[in-house]
Amino acid sequence: MERVIGIDLGTTNSCVAVVENGAPVVIPNRGGYKTTPSMVAITEAGKKLVGHIAKRQAITNAENTVFAAKRLIGRKFSSPQVKNAIATSAYKIVEGPHGDVRIMLRGKSFSCPEIGAMILQEMKLIAEDYLGGKVEKAVITVPAYFNDNQRQATKDAGSIAGLDVIRIINEPTAAALAYGFGKDMEKTIAVYDLGGGTFDISILEIGAHGVFRVVSTNGDTFLGGEDFDARVIDWLVDGFKSEHGIDLRQDRMALQRLKDAAEKAKCELSSTRETEINLPFIISSGRNEALHLQRVISRETLESLCQDLIDRTIDICQQTLEDAQLGKEDIEDVVLVGGMTRMPRIQEAVSGFLGREANRGVHPDEVVALGAAIQGHALLDNKTEMVLLDVTPHTLGILTHGGTFRGLIPQNTTVPTSRGEIFTTSRDDQTAVKILVMQGEHEKGDQNELLGEFVLTGLRKAPKGQVEIEVTFEINADGIVSVSAKDLETGKEQQIQVTASSGLTQQELKQMIDAAKDEMLDRRTSEDEEAAKQEAQRLIAEIERLFPQVEQIVVSSDFGRDATEKARGILQKAKAAMQRGDVQEIKDQIEALGRTARMFRGVVQKTS
Ligand SMILES: Nc1ncnc2c1ncn2[C@@H]1O[C@H](COP(=O)(O)OP(=O)(O)OP(=O)(O)O)[C@@H](O)[C@H]1O
Ligand SMILES: [Mg+2]
Repeated sequence: MERVIGIDLGTTNSCVAVVENGAPVVIPNRGGYKTTPSMVAITEAGKKLVGHIAKRQAITNAENTVFAAKRLIGRKFSSPQVKNAIATSAYKIVEGPHGDVRIMLRGKSFSCPEIGAMILQEMKLIAEDYLGGKVEKAVITVPAYFNDNQRQATKDAGSIAGLDVIRIINEPTAAALAYGFGKDMEKTIAVYDLGGGTFDISILEIGAHGVFRVVSTNGDTFLGGEDFDARVIDWLVDGFKSEHGIDLRQDRMALQRLKDAAEKAKCELSSTRETEINLPFIISSGRNEALHLQRVISRETLESLCQDLIDRTIDICQQTLEDAQLGKEDIEDVVLVGGMTRMPRIQEAVSGFLGREANRGVHPDEVVALGAAIQGHALLDNKTEMVLLDVTPHTLGILTHGGTFRGLIPQNTTVPTSRGEIFTTSRDDQTAVKILVMQGEHEKGDQNELLGEFVLTGLRKAPKGQVEIEVTFEINADGIVSVSAKDLETGKEQQIQVTASSGLTQQELKQMIDAAKDEMLDRRTSEDEEAAKQEAQRLIAEIERLFPQVEQIVVSSDFGRDATEKARGILQKAKAAMQRGDVQEIKDQIEALGRTARMFRGVVQKTS
């Protein structure tokens, strides 16, 4: 069966899993870690770094290191969330050609799908290393509350990374799949997922024979660990300002160090009651003297700084229960997902609200990727019986006269779904109609998310109201929206022009896919080259180390002398190839070096 991986593309950390022998497993990266930081950087020499290696150099290369790009993906530059990110990020965020978001790294602009693609490529490589072969198909997860633009942009990131994204699934739903996998249970559960960037809550009914039905979902795609960190940073910056009169935010490197320290302190306070934040030489004063930042923070302080954020998640939980028309007592189990759920105050808030202790059986960092792998496997393997019924998190509708929003497909409708709507012309001989498609819950159109403008062109000339066009709005199983139109009288399909509202045009996407392809080849060969050089170096060193001993042992036989002569020749050739950096020649010599090393080892062993 063809292989498919599940990828949890997180704001802070990403994780990849696969189903092996019928069970999902998380694939560790080369360092042995099961999650990889969702960080991307470009070095001074122009090299791209992803994951731990990018995180390690973040402080010294703050302006060219991107973190939490998922908070920006599929958003408009003008949105308040992007404004917030601009104020708090050490990297530069600029406006793209479609009012979208671009990130400047070493003078080059990158779209958010391109940044996402670098992380996805890394996850693909981790899986390929582990599985020992190419992987093309993937299921990628997104926050349940992601809108169409954000979903589409995530799918684009997958394409740029060279992945065939067979399904996009919601993170809490994936977590529920992993939770219920292989257990024949009938239960109503809540999944509370608070990660680095987003909050989701979903209520699901798990039925017998692998039926997973989402009843309702809600969330906030700009509420997560990053906001908790920001509160600690504010507290540190304010304290420093009142003590020294200096605003640390103006220094990008200081900001990155503060961010690091704030997150570390926050995590430590989940297991200790108090911790010290210590940042020597954080900035220099106007008089050229170095200033240090040193402060003790207690768990209570952290909790009071962040209580309103926690309360917001609980309010959303309340709303989701109401939408599901369920009471707290109907929830039979609570699954906590996301690193932030390690914070004791959050665990207390959730169990306090639902009146029951949360389930401790799932791993909060890995469960989403495991669920994605399970879903991928089930999609390709027709022996697996599993039915996933998810819902759309936002009402889909159109903008009507006067700027009011008319919903066509309500929030929490099971997807895939479609809905037809008949439009007529409002003027005589009108040949085009413009439709603005939106997602959201506000009555006023401008409060909702614009997905795209659809222009129906080439309409028949007729008196107003006489041309009837049926427009079909569809949401597929990925939660992605599409629109088609038909002239009801002639049955002719109408041409629809889609203008990218905040994403990439087809043309741009294609260029990015091509560019990434070239680069991937590059990267694979250079890693491969590096490995060959290291292997050759290791063998050369071993042979040189054993040489005097071997020479002494075999010196009395002609056969032995021939063998050492030959070995000398091989060493020389290999060293010359290393010096020239001739990779092909190095690879050719590895076999000969290996043979020589084995022979040398044999000689030494036999005589010792
Ligand atoms: N022990 C801990 N105590 C408190 N917070 C923690 C702890 N461990 C991790 N976190 C926080 O959890 C967040 C990361 O969680 P996670 O890896 O689940 O997020 P993500 O999946 O990358 O993001 P998202 O799902 O929002 O896209 C970070 O903000 C991190 O600081
Ligand atoms: Mg997550």
